[in-house]
Amino acid sequence: MTVQLKGKPEVVTIQWIPKYTFMERLGHWLHTATFIPLAITGMILYFPFLEPLAQGEAGLFVRLVHRVAAVIFGLLPIIYYIVEPRRLLLHIREFLPRKEDIGWLKAAPAYYLLGKHEAMPPQGRFNAGEKLNGLMMIITWFIFGITGVPMWFGKGVIPPEIFRWLVVFHDLAMIVSVCMLMVHLYLAVAHPLMWAGLVSMRFGVTSAEYAAEHHAKWYYGPKRAMEIWEAKKREGAHH
Ligand code: HEM
Repeated sequence: MTVQLKGKPEVVTIQWIPKYTFMERLGHWLHTATFIPLAITGMILYFPFLEPLAQGEAGLFVRLVHRVAAVIFGLLPIIYYIVEPRRLLLHIREFLPRKEDIGWLKAAPAYYLLGKHEAMPPQGRFNAGEKLNGLMMIITWFIFGITGVPMWFGKGVIPPEIFRWLVVFHDLAMIVSVCMLMVHLYLAVAHPLMWAGLVSMRFGVTSAEYAAEHHAKWYYGPKRAMEIWEAKKREGAHH
């Protein structure tokens, strides 16, 4: 595909490569579409200053929305992995910790804040930051489920002191996941280096150039990616 940037005469050619399946994109956006009402209705139940909204008819509505959204939010990942089980194996393999994750953590401040690219070792299909985000989302999804289901069906059955702990963990999961969402949203929508992320989650493809730059280990394979990186570092040392 060729594009012409505003105000520039030259034409840029972008080569697209596949990254996400249709199910992955659908699942991602449905999860977003259920997470946001869950967070809003959850906060209405959580913050004392919003208490008027949690009472009477409004309160019933808030609780109904929370429950309907929770069912979809809880089932989506399970349905996705039933429909595309091979992606589960792929994700487990891709999310395992690797040496380059330490390298990412060390290089991230200079890379993201100062734009220093040489320090960043080649990353796989998901870099350490994406892995951390994914891991936190999986952990909080799990906590929402194992605390939320008994909160839904166990009122009056579960001893009050245990019920209180369920609510505390449910609330903690909200605080962590909403904070992660803020970072995720900023990187996906506003950060100047991450433009291809949103394209791939909308259309399923990423630019070859972007993949080579941000996910070299995935794009070139581990060996070639390391050779290219070493060569770049040597070149940098000469200048
Ligand atoms: C599997 C997913 C989930 C289930 C089954 C679930 C279930 C529930 C239930 C049954 C309640 C009690 C509502 C009531 O008072 O009647 C509740 C409250 C709440 N939920 Fe969820 N929920 C889920 C996901 C989420 C998510 C994703 C968030 C936020 C991002 C969230 C935040 C909250 C908060 C803050 C409360 C108020 C707890 C309190 O009273 O302090 N929930 N949830």
